[in-house]
Amino acid sequence: MNERVITAIDIGSSKIATIVGLDSKENDELRIVGFNSTPSKGVKKGLIVDIDKVTESIEESLERAERMAGQKITHAFVSVGGPHISSLNSRGVVAVANTQGEITQEDVNRVIEAARAISLSSTRQIIEVNPRDFIVDGQEGIKNPVGMSGVRLEVDTHIITASQINLKNIERCIEDLGVHNDGFLFAGLASAESVLTDTERELGVVCVDIGGGKTDVALYVDGALSYSTSIPVGARHITNDIAVGVPVSIDSAEKIKLFLSKHLRANKKGKLPEQLPMHELVIGETLDNFSVKNVIDGIVAPRLEELFKLVGDEIMKSTYFEQVPSGLVITGGGALTVGILETAKKIIGLPVRVGIPGKVTGLIDEILDPQYASTVGLILYGQSHGGTVKEGASVDFGSFFKGVSVGGSVDKLKSFFKQFIP
Ligand SMILES: Nc1ncnc2c1ncn2[C@@H]1O[C@H](COP(=O)(O)OP(=O)(O)O)[C@@H](O)[C@H]1O
Ligand SMILES: [Mg+2]
Repeated sequence: MNERVITAIDIGSSKIATIVGLDSKENDELRIVGFNSTPSKGVKKGLIVDIDKVTESIEESLERAERMAGQKITHAFVSVGGPHISSLNSRGVVAVANTQGEITQEDVNRVIEAARAISLSSTRQIIEVNPRDFIVDGQEGIKNPVGMSGVRLEVDTHIITASQINLKNIERCIEDLGVHNDGFLFAGLASAESVLTDTERELGVVCVDIGGGKTDVALYVDGALSYSTSIPVGARHITNDIAVGVPVSIDSAEKIKLFLSKHLRANKKGKLPEQLPMHELVIGETLDNFSVKNVIDGIVAPRLEELFKLVGDEIMKSTYFEQVPSGLVITGGGALTVGILETAKKIIGLPVRVGIPGKVTGLIDEILDPQYASTVGLILYGQSHGGTVKEGASVDFGSFFKGVSVGGSVDKLKSFFKQFIP
């Protein structure tokens, strides 16, 4: 059988999820054979604050996923998110090498490298160079210029940078565990890979992944990633607000929050009890009468409003606010918060839906949940970018540039293309 093992480690602000998949060349299917999710310790808003604790959490998650998959994990794609992520758009320009002939892959590599030449503080590192659009002799909107004739080649790219020290720390954690890093991917982009449709990306859409301590945002215009950022507010803030407002312990507040979202989804009529069923929730506190409406309208909704105002600010900042008619696709564990669709629609004024990850087969029931959007997206990204390509395989460069980006370094891009150059 012609199968390739792909592994991803999703380092979230509340959990570390490891996923192992087998990519079958025969049918392009990604079959999940191993999965684990472990609470992440030592990570705050996506930043590593305690290496030993993070290493322990990753080790636990890796071991369990290995046991389930029945194989040793030797390499993995790794997600990074949180407010240490920032992005910018950069244009590269080169003269086509052979002005008599056609634009070659070498020219494309050179122009992407030119776009990458940005002035960057020594504390930052590029993790993504995403070609959005090529321009040949002034003609815009070209997705793949190879084979065209022209003298001047330009590219518009979207570049994502991350805190170098944080990347080094993550790399150290996983290399200490004997795992080679196949590449870093921004968690917001990973989520977009698993929950957005091609049509949404073409029309323009914003993927909003609400994690525990941060919200990762990836905005697409004309099929290409055009803005990415991360907001330091997540679903854990809602729990904290409930704990303060009711008041109850953080554990009890989390139980109340999950009860409200699960109850509403299970009960299609949208009927909630008037009082919180404290006994049913096994909450230690002796508060037997607390109005559900107060929790939803007085505590949860104001925090969601604040979060979506921040998302709205970022969309304005991106300058693409008129180019995202598909609206918001909300994912991440926080996407299931009670009342989220109503609040998001009210604040943003665009269509809103919840994004549930898909596009994989195998052991999947547990992972088809918004909280694993970035986990599933990361392994899908690995499927299209990692490892070796079967001998004689032909590659559609159009689709390569469509929603896809170049993770890690230009060297990776080069080696990727070299495989197809005779
Ligand atoms: N069914 C649910 N309803 C409401 N909130 C949820 C639900 N499931 C998970 N969450 C919240 O999602 C957050 C974790 O989201 P997740 O995407 O797993 O974070 P990260 O990727 O940053 O680790 C937690 O605050 C948790 O309370
Ligand atoms: Mg996540």
